[in-house]
Amino acid sequence: MIELPPAAAAYDARAAEYDTWYDRNAVLYQAELELVDALVQPLRAVGPGLEIGAGTGRFAGPLGIDVALEPSPEMGAFARQRDVQVIEGVAEELPFGRAEFGYTAFLTSLCFIPDRARALAEARRVTRPGGGIVVAFLNRASELGAQLDATKEDDPFYADASFFIRDELDEVLRSAGYIPEVWAQLHPAEKPTISDGADTGLYCAVRARLAPTGSQAADGDGS
Ligand SMILES: C[S@@+](CC[C@H](N)C(=O)[O-])C[C@H]1O[C@@H](n2cnc3c(N)ncnc32)[C@H](O)[C@@H]1O
Repeated sequence: MIELPPAAAAYDARAAEYDTWYDRNAVLYQAELELVDALVQPLRAVGPGLEIGAGTGRFAGPLGIDVALEPSPEMGAFARQRDVQVIEGVAEELPFGRAEFGYTAFLTSLCFIPDRARALAEARRVTRPGGGIVVAFLNRASELGAQLDATKEDDPFYADASFFIRDELDEVLRSAGYIPEVWAQLHPAEKPTISDGADTGLYCAVRARLAPTGSQAADGDGS
């Protein structure tokens, strides 16, 4: 067994509660799946996918993401019930070889990882040339995101989260040698809508490509 990072321990203790959010919010969940699926789609041709911090497999399962990395055994057990191939591990030290995957996906997990630069360097290492990454995040610039951020200390799920806004994530990705190419956001409502960009929506995501090796962008700024 691996040592659980603090954020993963919180999820391990409340796996069932986390998982049922998706049943209680089925309409929003379907819209999130649609949003992520559209971003992942062009990367599938490059090679198999790896979701990092895959939780209970609510995305890896229906989206057919080939491998799920998850530190929490309790979260991973739910994912296995969804026929997801789960490997226990942490983002900062991926137990995979160079260029094994066509893409990686961090779906509301990057905000829990203290050493993002290391996690993204690892994601880059396991990704094939021409491949990329999809990062979904709760947008601190949205009204609901700002509320979550203000009250996160009292929330067992979000206490360890550092919520992004688009420009911060753009910078983090570019520093790690990725080039963001499309942003999408979900506007919660009785009938949720998806639009381009990441400004007022709470659930947002970006697809970025690996910068070509040897290019200035591939070197990032090392931060
Ligand atoms: C908000 S949940 C997201 C789960 C899933 N991706 C989803 O969208 O339902 C965040 C997940 O990140 C995992 N996590 C926390 N720290 C991590 C780390 N250092 N490496 C990989 N995963 C981590 C947690 O255990 C948890 O399952």
